[in-house]
Amino acid sequence: MSVSIKSAREIEYMRIAGRLLEEVHDELAAFVRPGISTLDIDRYGEKLIRDRGCIPNFLHYNGYPASICVSVNDEVVHGIPHKKRILKEGDIVSLDAGLIYKGYHSDAARTHGVGRISEEARQLIAATKQSFFEGLKFARAGRHLHEISAAINDYIDTFGYGVVQDLVGHGIGEHLHEDPQIPNFRQKRRGIKLLPGMTLAIEPMINAGGWQVVWLDDDWTVVTEDGSLSAHYENTVLITNGEPELLTCSHD
Ligand code: MF3
Ligand code: CO
Repeated sequence: MSVSIKSAREIEYMRIAGRLLEEVHDELAAFVRPGISTLDIDRYGEKLIRDRGCIPNFLHYNGYPASICVSVNDEVVHGIPHKKRILKEGDIVSLDAGLIYKGYHSDAARTHGVGRISEEARQLIAATKQSFFEGLKFARAGRHLHEISAAINDYIDTFGYGVVQDLVGHGIGEHLHEDPQIPNFRQKRRGIKLLPGMTLAIEPMINAGGWQVVWLDDDWTVVTEDGSLSAHYENTVLITNGEPELLTCSHD
């Protein structure tokens, strides 16, 4: 396994890739409402990415047919946008998006409520987001990678939610997926030592029920085995000599 250390020039490109992706997510957050289809979100998201002179990195990645992964309710990740899948009040929807700017990738995910949602759904979304920030406390030079994993896992355990194990975060840079893999659950090994210049996509996927997931017959959509709701929160992060730098999140 080799984990790349980005140069100052590469970091500058990744900062821009991250900032542009945050803009896309902000616009998508404002766009989500009852009555739109998941394909409407994909079309709009792709336009937002291309309008910024960037390329949607998910499109055609391993054959994935869209630019934005749109996952509703019990769908964990990689939901395929469809014109007949209409969002309704009370749904929760996870939007996972990424783009390429001058050859450098960014990747981030948010889960939104559609209209008014249940208190249970609100708490799941909030806990998933906070678990990312609990992990982030350990995203520092000199720490070991799996300290991030354990912090996410420990925080989520206090809610009794399930931490998805079949999918993990990842390094990111010239490629969407680089080493290392970043599990969201406790590991027996401590993992690599983190160094300044590493760029990581940390992305807890959390189920209201059990951690188990299954793949639908489309070979993409991952759903909870027990039908419970699932939430996803992801940012691209730069390891520095001090505080980690959030490349895809400059505000709440
Ligand atoms: N953000 C996801 C990831 O981190 C989505 C990529 S899957 C794709 O792996 F095929 F849709 F690109
Ligand atoms: Co990712």
